Amino acid sequence: MWNAELISSKFESIYNQNPTTVIKSPGRINLIGEHTDYNDGFVLPAAIDKAIYFALREREDRLCRFYSVDLDDYHEINLDDYAKSPKQWANYLIGVINEIQEEGHQIPTGFELAFGGDIPLGAGLSSSAAVETGMGYGLSQLFGLSVDRLTLAKVAQRAERKFAGLNCGIMDMYASLFGKRDAVIKLDCRALTHQYFDLPTKNHSIVLCNTGVKHNLSETAYNKRREECEEGVAIIQTQFPAVVSLRDISLSQLTSIESLFPPVVYRRCHFVVAEIERVGRACSALTGGRFKEFGDFMYETHEGLRDDYEVSCPELDFLVEQAKLNQDVLGSRMMGGGFGGCTINLIKNDGIEDFIASATKAYEAAFNIELKSYTVVLNNGVEEVSLVPGE
Ligand code: GLA
Repeated sequence: MWNAELISSKFESIYNQNPTTVIKSPGRINLIGEHTDYNDGFVLPAAIDKAIYFALREREDRLCRFYSVDLDDYHEINLDDYAKSPKQWANYLIGVINEIQEEGHQIPTGFELAFGGDIPLGAGLSSSAAVETGMGYGLSQLFGLSVDRLTLAKVAQRAERKFAGLNCGIMDMYASLFGKRDAVIKLDCRALTHQYFDLPTKNHSIVLCNTGVKHNLSETAYNKRREECEEGVAIIQTQFPAVVSLRDISLSQLTSIESLFPPVVYRRCHFVVAEIERVGRACSALTGGRFKEFGDFMYETHEGLRDDYEVSCPELDFLVEQAKLNQDVLGSRMMGGGFGGCTINLIKNDGIEDFIASATKAYEAAFNIELKSYTVVLNNGVEEVSLVPGE
């Protein structure tokens, strides 16, 4: 698995020079608050100890050379004349180059870049956001652009939307940039401000179980869910004109106008409004040290995502059911956009090994897929790594 030193030496062997800047950009988890970010709601993500590493060095001309170590693939563009690439991985980088310049920060020269990491792809841990935030931060450091972190989050989000085609919210990028060791981030996706909550791991840990599947519905279904939420807001506005997004309506107000909605749109809105309220209650449980209650909220979220928002899949549902059978697991749910990727589980430390062993066995028997599980450490956001020369 790649780390900062290995990416740097890979850079040297490809480009025959040392990198001048090395960046570590983490993936993220989300404890609760799913599909609420693009509805102006709250989310509770954290950056983790899995990351993408970037090694960079400026050039004298206008050429930008990219090497993906994970994919063993190369692409280059000229800063004066570039377009989207048929290679999706390169579009994350090109998108950031474009959007950072749209912000008014001129990239003065071309550069060389090698990147790669240990965030499993397609697992819902936002490896693409980590690529985008790492690229943005890398450019800022390499050329002394001093772009602030919030601007970088917006740049990365626009890159994803315009160059990768996913009409995503800002949670993934924000978590990758604002992560803090041993803490979760309560992000207000309207105000774009946050508060940290400590998540002590003395007794409990976060374990991810990777289904190993990513059903290809995911991107179209994601964009469709956004449209359904917008359709819901338009219906709500006929009765409550001040409502701008699903953040602005309470569950009781929504219930009172159910008859106006097509059933599917109602279920989508019901999930989102309930989920936004749930994040608030889950945070109170966390600050009060009531982990069992927090875990129950996670199970509720899963049910809503499965039945009302309809973004789960049999593999995720199976793993959540496995978790329910185990008394050491306090809560479990699918995490991220859906249709595959990981479940997130809050587990008593003493029970982790047994849970992983039994879930792995059951999952293999049911789906013939080897289950990969990761106990994660909550970590700092994107940062520059200083390498000691010669090491
Ligand atoms: C994906 C998106 C995020 C968010 C989640 C669902 O990860 O990139 O913006 O909407 O799905 O909560």
